[in-house]
Amino acid sequence: MTQGDRASQLRDTQDAFDSVAADYDGPRGNNSLIQDMRNEMWRWLDRTFAPGSRLIDLGCGTGLDAVHMAKLGHRITATDWSPQMIARTADRARRESVTEQVEAIAVGAHELHHLEGRGRFDGAYSNLGPLNCVPDLADVSTACARLLRPGGALVFTVIGRVCPWEIVHYALRWRWPRLKMRFARNVVPATMNKHTIWTRYYTPREFYRAFERDFMLEHYRGLCVFAPPPYLTGVRERHSRFYERLWRIDRRTAGWPLLRSIGDHFLIVMTKR
Ligand SMILES: C[S@@+](CC[C@H](N)C(=O)[O-])C[C@H]1O[C@@H](n2cnc3c(N)ncnc32)[C@H](O)[C@@H]1O
Repeated sequence: MTQGDRASQLRDTQDAFDSVAADYDGPRGNNSLIQDMRNEMWRWLDRTFAPGSRLIDLGCGTGLDAVHMAKLGHRITATDWSPQMIARTADRARRESVTEQVEAIAVGAHELHHLEGRGRFDGAYSNLGPLNCVPDLADVSTACARLLRPGGALVFTVIGRVCPWEIVHYALRWRWPRLKMRFARNVVPATMNKHTIWTRYYTPREFYRAFERDFMLEHYRGLCVFAPPPYLTGVRERHSRFYERLWRIDRRTAGWPLLRSIGDHFLIVMTKR
C-alpha cells in the first residue's frame, strides 16, 4: 500500500468519526452494553495504574474515560485523530471541572511523535478499538516506548478476530461476506454513518507481535466472550438475568487459555521492558 493510500484511508476514518462525534456518547457509541465493557476496562485501569499517574488516552473519543480517570486523580493527555471528538473531550472536561487534569490534543495514535518533549508518562490506555484503525502498530509501540518511563504500562481493548456471537448471528442470516470480514488479513472498510472506517482485526497474539520488542506481555483476556457484542443490545434488554449471568461467566473465565483469544474485543496489558 502506498503512503497516498494510507493517508486517504486515515482521512476517511477521521471523517467518519468527525461525523458522529456530536452524539457518540449516546446509543451509537456508548449503549448500555458498551458501558458494561467500559466498566471492565475501568477495573483493569484501576488495577494497573497507581493513584496520581500521568497517562495518555489513545483515541479518547468523547472523553468518557479521560474524565473518569481525571476524577480518580490521574493526569490525562487525551488524544484522538478526530478533531470533533477532541472538541467533545475538551468540552466534557470543562463541564466536569477537570480541565487542570485533562489536556485534549488532536493527535492520531499513528503520529505520537507529536507528544515528544512533554515529559515521561506512567502509561497509556486505549479503549474500544482506536488501535484497530492505525496503519502500523509497530510505530505505536516505538512511540509509546519513547514516551513511557521504564516499567510504564499499556492497557488496551482491541476488536478481536473471533467473536462467537457474531459468527452465529451472521451465519443464521447467511451473511457470509460480513461473517468473513474479521478474518481478513489486511485492512477492510467498515461503514458507519455512510462513511468508511478502515479497520484491521487482530487476535491478541497477532496484536502483541507488534509490541513485543519494546513491551512485555502481562495479561490478556477476551471481552464479550459469552456476553453478546455491543450491537446485540436487544439480548440485554429482553433477557436481563440471562445477560447478567453471561457477564459473570465472562469475568470469571475470559482470562483462561483459549477463551482469552476470543470475544468481540480483547483486553491486553503490557509493561515496558
Ligand atoms: C470506537 S471509538 C472509541 C472511543 C473511546 N476510546 C471510547 O471508549 O469511547 C474509536 C475512536 O478512535 C478514534 N480513532 C480512529 N482512528 C484513530 C487513529 N489513527 N488514532 C487515534 N484515534 C483514532 C476515533 O476518532 C474514535 O474516537
